[in-house]
Amino acid sequence: MTELEQLVGSARADFAAAPNPAELENAKARYLGKAGRVTELLKALASLPPDEKKAQGALINQAKQQVEVLLTERRESLAGAELERQLQAEALDVTLPGRRRGTGGLHPVSRTMERIEAIFGSMGFEVADGPEIETDWYSFTALNNPENHPARSMQDTFYVDLKDAEGRWLNLRPHTSPMQVRYARTHAARHAGLIAAGQAMPDIRVIAPGRTYRVDSDATHSPMFHQCEGLWIGENVSFKDLKSVFTDFLRQFFDTDDLQVRFRPSFFPFTEPSAEVDLAFGDGPLKGKWLEVAGSGQVHPNVVRNFGLDPERYIGFAFGMGPDRLAMLRYGVTDLRLFFENDLRFLSQFR
Ligand code: DAH
Repeated sequence: MTELEQLVGSARADFAAAPNPAELENAKARYLGKAGRVTELLKALASLPPDEKKAQGALINQAKQQVEVLLTERRESLAGAELERQLQAEALDVTLPGRRRGTGGLHPVSRTMERIEAIFGSMGFEVADGPEIETDWYSFTALNNPENHPARSMQDTFYVDLKDAEGRWLNLRPHTSPMQVRYARTHAARHAGLIAAGQAMPDIRVIAPGRTYRVDSDATHSPMFHQCEGLWIGENVSFKDLKSVFTDFLRQFFDTDDLQVRFRPSFFPFTEPSAEVDLAFGDGPLKGKWLEVAGSGQVHPNVVRNFGLDPERYIGFAFGMGPDRLAMLRYGVTDLRLFFENDLRFLSQFR
């Protein structure tokens, strides 16, 4: 093999070994650059006698052209590979379906509220709404919970140093129970004529769902949470009715008859007797476990009096339950905070 053939072979190998355009240009310099091997050979021609110069010059130029062709080929193949890589990286599958604007959905707690309203609605209960900024009288005093009484701490609220225009202390309602008093007073006023004439007024039958506030925060308590109050007052409404209404509600809510309800004696200032309502599923992951879902009781005569009604004539029951808790049980959610963090990965599961 001649020296020139060797040179072309070594250029071919060097170019092939260059992994990218930059290295290829370095390799090119080693052959065709100012101090490159081909250039050196051409410079050396000057010292040859004229006849040899011509023949040798032609051979070197031939080799130079071969090296140039090799260089061009490698340049093209590297550029082709780079283009291929880019196309792969930016691949666009035009056959994929387009991205749509997501559809919204109801929050699981809103869904639960609607479900509660529908069930109680079917049992003849009205749905009432009331203020979240409440006066001290409605939140506590009217509910037989006198000023400075320790039982007030049962529904410990965020106290604010604020009075309304009439000088009444304000608070963020710690429960929906004030709605009992607001609704019953309105009802009594609406039927004042009947009442004054000594005739029976229609029963009060209402639920009041809404937001409530307490100084509480952990996996099962949030400073803002929901409650749903219930109230049924008439001339002959008893604890028996409370039991059947609430049991019926829970069975409809959880879509099963395979569930037990227990009324456990308790204390609330606004009811006498009072009970906590517990339920136990007959099946599923929580099978047989007693879970507290509401407070309840027969409305205290003092509260009936604050309704503007005669406790000798009107009697009934009330309850207050936690829709957040019911939503957790229905959907198997173990941390209440998930409901209020507004993470779409969580919320979109309820769409
Ligand atoms: N308001 C009570 C609470 O927040 C719950 C409650 C208990 C409501 C008994 C009632 C009731 O209406 O009769 O803990």
